[in-house]
Amino acid sequence: MNVPATLSVIAARPGGPEVLELVRRELPPPGPGEMRVRVHAAGINRPDAMQREGNYNPPPGVTDVLGLELAGEVTELGPDVTRFAPGDRVMALVAGGAYAEEAIVQADVCIRVPDGLSMIEAGGIPETYFTVWSNLFQRAGLKQGETVLLHGGTSGIGVTATLLARAIGARMITTCGSDEKCRASVELGASDSINYKTQDFVKVGRDLTDGKGPDVIVDMVGGSYMQRNLDLIAEDGRIAQIAFQQGSQADLNMGPLLFKRLTLTGSTLRARPIAMKAALTQAVEQQVLPLILEKDARPVIDSVFRLEDVQDAHARLEASAHTGKIILKTAACEEG
Ligand SMILES: NC(=O)c1ccc[n+]([C@@H]2O[C@H](COP(=O)([O-])OP(=O)(O)OC[C@H]3O[C@@H](n4cnc5c(N)ncnc54)[C@H](OP(=O)(O)O)[C@@H]3O)[C@@H](O)[C@H]2O)c1
Repeated sequence: MNVPATLSVIAARPGGPEVLELVRRELPPPGPGEMRVRVHAAGINRPDAMQREGNYNPPPGVTDVLGLELAGEVTELGPDVTRFAPGDRVMALVAGGAYAEEAIVQADVCIRVPDGLSMIEAGGIPETYFTVWSNLFQRAGLKQGETVLLHGGTSGIGVTATLLARAIGARMITTCGSDEKCRASVELGASDSINYKTQDFVKVGRDLTDGKGPDVIVDMVGGSYMQRNLDLIAEDGRIAQIAFQQGSQADLNMGPLLFKRLTLTGSTLRARPIAMKAALTQAVEQQVLPLILEKDARPVIDSVFRLEDVQDAHARLEASAHTGKIILKTAACEEG
């Protein structure tokens, strides 16, 4: 079949939002286990900005077209795909290639979009819900009745974690960089939010937990936060490290690891083998989708930009003015 080249977004060179360019790219036919999808919506994530800056290269063999998550309509099946059919609405986690009118996805990391979720909402689900489920729930083992402290309460990841923690009956405390963001985080379900620019999160975090500290900390900052997290966390606590915005190195006193019997964990999603991503996809479909639909944990959409306006969308992410997800939509989304 002769399929016309598809409109796609790449970073022409490392730099700011201005280096993002629309190009036409040929897509290969879907191979075994793959499907071609007509993209309606693609979520924007911080790792996309890191890739644009030249600091987060795609894994070997992965397209340089940006974007880690999408929702769209299946248009063609690869040889052995039986779980889906052309016309199905799916959301997918991809290692690259979501900022485009069409993409090739692995069927094993697709979830059918249920009735009641829009394509815009579905396009903003995979990256943050998979990351939060994997790190906060599977690795750090957050349970009902426990308290979690998360840095970056209004980030895409932070909002998702807040919604899911609330949905299972856990208490969420966040840190944010302004009073306005703290208020937004509490409106989304955090019991308390600490302005890290004006307050010491270790002191306030202790006060808010009667001196005990949170059971779980989710950290995307690293650097100087690593010692402060170790100092604040409760006995038998778990720390999930999901990024190092302040760097991955620090001179640490690891004493609390022994005395408090701590668990340090962390992971990254993109580079995982497909079998691990497939297992996570099943867990999200079975355990997280019901929370999204029945426990009011739908994604919070900050703003929606046309694919052609991708530079503006990245500028909004860079300004860190957003709460929740920034989404790109294609012409197919507007057609319905
Ligand atoms: N491990 C994984 O698999 C995985 C997957 C996806 C994303 N991530 C990482 O998770 C992070 C969030 O991703 P995203 O797409 O949700 O990004 P995002 O919406 O751009 O959020 C980044 C957040 O970092 C916060 N932040 C920066 N410095 C901070 C500090 N000192 N204290 C507290 N918060 C601070 C910002 O909050 P303020 O504006 O309030 O300062 C902002 O909310 C990124 O670092 C990303 O690389 C990891």
